[in-house]
Amino acid sequence: MRESGAIDTIVQDIIASLKDLPGALLPILHGIQDKLGYIPAETVPAIAKALNLSRAEVHGVISFYHYFRETPPGKTTVHLCRAESCQAKGAKALEAHVKNKLGIDYHETTADGAFSLEPVYCLGLCSVSPSMQIGEELYGHSSAELFDSIINAEEASA
Ligand code: FES
Repeated sequence: MRESGAIDTIVQDIIASLKDLPGALLPILHGIQDKLGYIPAETVPAIAKALNLSRAEVHGVISFYHYFRETPPGKTTVHLCRAESCQAKGAKALEAHVKNKLGIDYHETTADGAFSLEPVYCLGLCSVSPSMQIGEELYGHSSAELFDSIINAEEASA
């Protein structure tokens, strides 16, 4: 966990390097999330001030795009593909299983901070649908059994 002073420095550097771009808000938000894993609420005033926007406008953009997180992500993020090919090959059943197993919905993190769950719209593995990504690893032919075996192995090695 970073200190708030360190977060301020990171955010100020990102703002300073991007604020003169046309439509700078989205690049700044992406830059912060890429670096910190989320966009801390306490950074919103500085972003708003630099871009001459209201805090409500900045917050509105963060909450409009599901990609942006307002809370720190879990240690491992699970991405489930919800696009057409995966839907046709059983993604809905996999989704129900994963939500039940982790006890969370999309955009949430397990209470122990181990896993976050996010939807994704095509991982480029349509030919081996349904697909998912767990941490950095991509998986085709995904199933409840495959998910459980990966998650159980991660938990055992934690
Ligand atoms: S539709 Fe799921 S990987 Fe392309």
